[in-house]
Amino acid sequence: MRFGINTLDEMCLDGKTVLCRVDINQPVDRATGTLKSTHRIEACVPTVRELAEGGAKVVLLAHQGSDIEYNNFYTTKHHGAVLSQLLGREVRWIEDVCGPLARETIRGLAPGEILLLDNVRFCSEEQTLFEKSLKLSHAEQAQTQVVHKLAPLADLYVCDAFAAAHRDQPTLCGFQQLLPSCMGRLFEAEYCVISGLMECPKRPCIFVLGGAKVADAFQMMETVLGSGAADQVLSGGLVGNILLAARGTDIGEKSLAFIRAQGYGSFIETSKALLERYGDRIELPGDLGYVDGMAVDIGEETTKRYMERIKSARTVFVNGPMGVFEKPESEAGTKGVWEALGATKAYTVVGGGDSVTATKKYGKTKDVDYLCTGGGALIRFLSGEELPVVKALRHAARSFGEEGKVCR
Ligand code: 3PG
Repeated sequence: MRFGINTLDEMCLDGKTVLCRVDINQPVDRATGTLKSTHRIEACVPTVRELAEGGAKVVLLAHQGSDIEYNNFYTTKHHGAVLSQLLGREVRWIEDVCGPLARETIRGLAPGEILLLDNVRFCSEEQTLFEKSLKLSHAEQAQTQVVHKLAPLADLYVCDAFAAAHRDQPTLCGFQQLLPSCMGRLFEAEYCVISGLMECPKRPCIFVLGGAKVADAFQMMETVLGSGAADQVLSGGLVGNILLAARGTDIGEKSLAFIRAQGYGSFIETSKALLERYGDRIELPGDLGYVDGMAVDIGEETTKRYMERIKSARTVFVNGPMGVFEKPESEAGTKGVWEALGATKAYTVVGGGDSVTATKKYGKTKDVDYLCTGGGALIRFLSGEELPVVKALRHAARSFGEEGKVCR
């Protein structure tokens, strides 16, 4: 048991039917329906392998796409094929989540077999809008169709979906009411790394916050500066431009208009308050890179300065690139920062989809100490809230006692 949650170490797997919720939600190429990254699929491999090699009948539940931020619901079929390749063993896939076909297939599984169900968000009760408008308790989530139909077929529930741990949805929080439950290896590792980063980072601890996910970045900035986890924040990307605008620096009409057009005008006010409170700990770009009059990167001087800071820090956390790094004319800042990440002796953690992509693009996957799968979950975790999935897993650890902790 760690953090009040059971781990796989305490679970007996042999011959058991295990429902394992993973987060393999990936950016999808809308034109072809193919996956643009496989990072999260790779990350869940150790847990899935351990379950299958331990003799469990493995049933994987996963979502793909969101109903609120971006409409890209897709089947999980491609994910199954990738997972199968990574594991070097068959992963069966069916076009059903909890209907008769799914239940029949689960009943017929043999020990060591792996089945991936289709996108759980094809069930309306699993969608974020449903979560937000109904706010079901975990006990109520246990009565939803998906939990009600699948729980009786299983012996154990494993949650390895750290990246979705901030969501309060039936496949994430409902099964723990009915089944002995534990976290998977990825969940455990991410929990450990991130809580360690928050509790006792080696100093100086620097947060590099950039990108275009403005609300998330500002929430994180406020949290880590307020808690003292960050000694310093280096800002870049759209986040840096907003801070500059708040300080009254001229970033150009076009850049300012873009900030307002994207609906981020109110963050200029947020930034003013942050700068007033923590101005001495927030570093702003001193120069910017422009394309067609629009600020799309940090400038050369800023890149050099940030690289030095990163090299002399002892802990560095990065969320968000410094510019539009997908394009050669606006990638220099991001490239420089990632060069420094590779060169520093500091403990380095990278979180969020774009940052993971940048890490791969610049060949730094092996140099970064920890690549976190979480975006929204990570931010919520850093803010100190007990995440809904953590709460549900703790509940299961208390409720099922020895019954749920069969030693291997
Ligand atoms: C994510 O991509 O952050 C997680 O998979 C959760 O997805 P969501 O924000 O669509 O719930």
